[in-house]
Amino acid sequence: MKRLLSGIKPTGDLTLGNYIGALKHFNEMQKEYETFVFVADLHALTIYNDPKVLHKKIRDLIAVYLACGLDPKYTTLFIQSENVYHANLSWVFECNTYMGEAARMTQFKEKSKNNENVTVGLFTYPMLMASDILLYDADVVPVGIDQKQHVELARNIAERFNNKYGETFKIPEPVIPKTGAKIYDLQDPTKKMSKSDDNNKGCIILLEDPEIARKKIMSAVTDSEMSIKFDPEHKPGVSNLLTIYSSLKNISIQDAEKEFEGSNYGTFKKRVADVVVELLNNLQSKYKEVIEGDTIDKILDESNKKVREIAKSKVEEVFTKVGVGR
Ligand code: TYM
Repeated sequence: MKRLLSGIKPTGDLTLGNYIGALKHFNEMQKEYETFVFVADLHALTIYNDPKVLHKKIRDLIAVYLACGLDPKYTTLFIQSENVYHANLSWVFECNTYMGEAARMTQFKEKSKNNENVTVGLFTYPMLMASDILLYDADVVPVGIDQKQHVELARNIAERFNNKYGETFKIPEPVIPKTGAKIYDLQDPTKKMSKSDDNNKGCIILLEDPEIARKKIMSAVTDSEMSIKFDPEHKPGVSNLLTIYSSLKNISIQDAEKEFEGSNYGTFKKRVADVVVELLNNLQSKYKEVIEGDTIDKILDESNKKVREIAKSKVEEVFTKVGVGR
């Protein structure tokens, strides 16, 4: 069985973008692959987080994974920092990545622009991400479009290492959803819907009051026309809402367009809001069931053993190949 691996950073609040671009696909793919999904908590440290808040967000993310349908029968859920080998391998990758390559990462360029508090960790972050992926010999890595470049760097790092030291790593494939690889902000539909965004009105948060989410959809920016057509360049607001609708209903954009032929924007938004509210209600009721009690710890304790074993043998192989240790 081929392996799938992906993760999410426990910073900010999880958004509808995270759901449509990532979580939904982990859930749909888990039976087809041997699936590993983790909380990228070491990645969260590139910026300062209140430690208490970070602890809570890590647990919340595991609960959201379970609430989205990830089933420990098929998916190994774990926390990155609880497997020390991620950071070990990352160092080896830092020493096998060129400054120029790392400096070309779009996310680094965007996040470091006009920012004096950029940490070295933000720069080396993609090497840690490569280590997350390559430690487990992942075949596929489902991510939204914003992470594609990082997965491509992981491929380059793996190829370079294999050429230098002999066959060691699988070359992973990024899997980008056909619909919803980038969900946009509802108030500024040229910008990614982002969990670290201050403008909350443009962002649906998975654990927020569903009625607040409904209001956000109802006040989403559209345009002055009256046609419900998918045209991201000229109609970014309407196209974003069509993407959200078709992804949550599992139908094509064309079928969604047909469904709304002749409807006005008010009716259209109400129908989009209904599917979003339904998703949030379902997700939140499952979240409440798992966040209390000891299910989460039991699952993590079990998977910890498995992921450490896999990672340990890979890191030992790498250390031997590069020549460190006895
Ligand atoms: P993160 O936490 O920023 O986002 C998690 C996943 O959600 C996707 N995503 C979106 N998709 C569509 N529309 C949006 N508006 C949107 N916003 C976020 C992201 O593309 C991502 O798939 N570096 C990663 C976490 C990570 C990882 C890994 C992922 C660390 N190691 C190894 C895969 C494999 C990150 O910060 O994602």
